[in-house]
Amino acid sequence: MAKLKPHAVVMAYPLQGHIIPAVHLALRLAAYGCTITFINTEAVHYQTLKATGADCNDPFVPARESGLDIRYETVSDGLPLSFDRSLNHDQFMYSVLHVLSAHVEELLRRLVATTEPPITSLIIDTFFVWPATIGEKLGLPYISFWTEPALIFTLYYHMELLRKNGHFGCQDNRKDAITYIPGVPSIEPKELTSYLQETDTSSVVHQIIFKAFDEAKRAKIILCNTVEELESSTISALKLEKPFYSIGPIFPTGFTRSTVATSLWAESDCTNWLNTKEPGSVLYISFGSYAHVSKRDLCEIAQGILNSKVNFIWVLRPDVVSSDEPNPLPPGFLEETKGHGLVVQWCCQVEVLSHPAVGGFLTHCGWNSILESVWCSVPMLCFPLLTDQFTNRKLVVRDWQIGLAIGELNEVAADDVAEKLKDLMSGKKGERARTEIKKVRKFLQDAVEINGSSQKNFDQFILDLTK
Ligand SMILES: *[C@@H]1O[C@H](CO)[C@@H](O)[C@H](O)[C@H]1NC(C)=O
Repeated sequence: MAKLKPHAVVMAYPLQGHIIPAVHLALRLAAYGCTITFINTEAVHYQTLKATGADCNDPFVPARESGLDIRYETVSDGLPLSFDRSLNHDQFMYSVLHVLSAHVEELLRRLVATTEPPITSLIIDTFFVWPATIGEKLGLPYISFWTEPALIFTLYYHMELLRKNGHFGCQDNRKDAITYIPGVPSIEPKELTSYLQETDTSSVVHQIIFKAFDEAKRAKIILCNTVEELESSTISALKLEKPFYSIGPIFPTGFTRSTVATSLWAESDCTNWLNTKEPGSVLYISFGSYAHVSKRDLCEIAQGILNSKVNFIWVLRPDVVSSDEPNPLPPGFLEETKGHGLVVQWCCQVEVLSHPAVGGFLTHCGWNSILESVWCSVPMLCFPLLTDQFTNRKLVVRDWQIGLAIGELNEVAADDVAEKLKDLMSGKKGERARTEIKKVRKFLQDAVEINGSSQKNFDQFILDLTK
């Protein structure tokens, strides 16, 4: 019998941090000879289009012109395009929880009935609440794509264990260290993801996580954007549960601006400005694409930056505090920092981090940001806001010692920010972090070389797809 050409449907969760690795995973699979159908929600599709100002309705045209068999579909998330998903987060998430799956099922049924070569698998972001269920209906295996560290996957995977032991889901959660998760020697309750720290577990995101991990338990394979050598004991334990392939770091080819548009906001080019600055002298600041910062915390951080007199590029999305608060910076901040500070709405992060002028990254600790910062050997100042970011900070600060914490939500203080900032950019702790980050960087680099762990796992995954 002729070997079946793999045709995978890849669908990204409709948030920026998930779209980027999903697109690059799709491109990579296509480069290895798979046919790919990539699905975006219509809202993501139009926002990306608006951001790039492109007139092309299909972001994968350049990829197809280079010979890849990658097709593109969009699906409604259930809400009108004009709906402000950032301002009305819970309503958006209710739609993702309850309505999106019906639209996806309709689309997948049409594709299964009409597409050549036939679809052979679903590679779907782990946070979706339907891939195993719909996959079972359509006879397609669900491969779950996890865009956060393996540590976080295993925490959610073992939520019941946390609950049984009183660390999660109780009115009065235990405060002592958690030492019973397979492959995780010890983690403090404060280092859990925000959702695992909350005592009210009835929120829409909790419902999504509970359902998504019921589905993930029925996945055939887990793909994870991490590196085995970074999380070896966690990953060894997960491999006893099911095939778990670490294939990270997944980056755009050549670690440059992607040929496929993935950005939800128009990107400012910071290169000319950076070219005028001394090597290692610029702090890059970004709170990522998703979470909101309180105005209080933003102003304390701004004051700290002002006091430190450091050069900086600050990415402030228009909705970073809220869509209702478009100018959250303290009055006079822009004038006082003129010449040594640049504030932009959005930028190409891999370009900025790769620039030799950048010497530190004040980050919300999103996983993509951490991987990119490590790749560029830029040590971090950590200010987690939401979700996995608290656990990611543990990896950066406590386990790998490649960054410093600058304080907690609603407690961060200007003086402290200024002091930590100086320490990171030119002090002893920064020097130490710079030494350590080169070691972590080498793990990432080695993993993607021929015979590296991530490359070998990827090769094995391609073999599995062709079986
Ligand atoms: C990769 O591993 C194989 C098998 O161990 C070996 O024959 C080959 O030389 C290695 N290639 C490189 C580039 O290290």
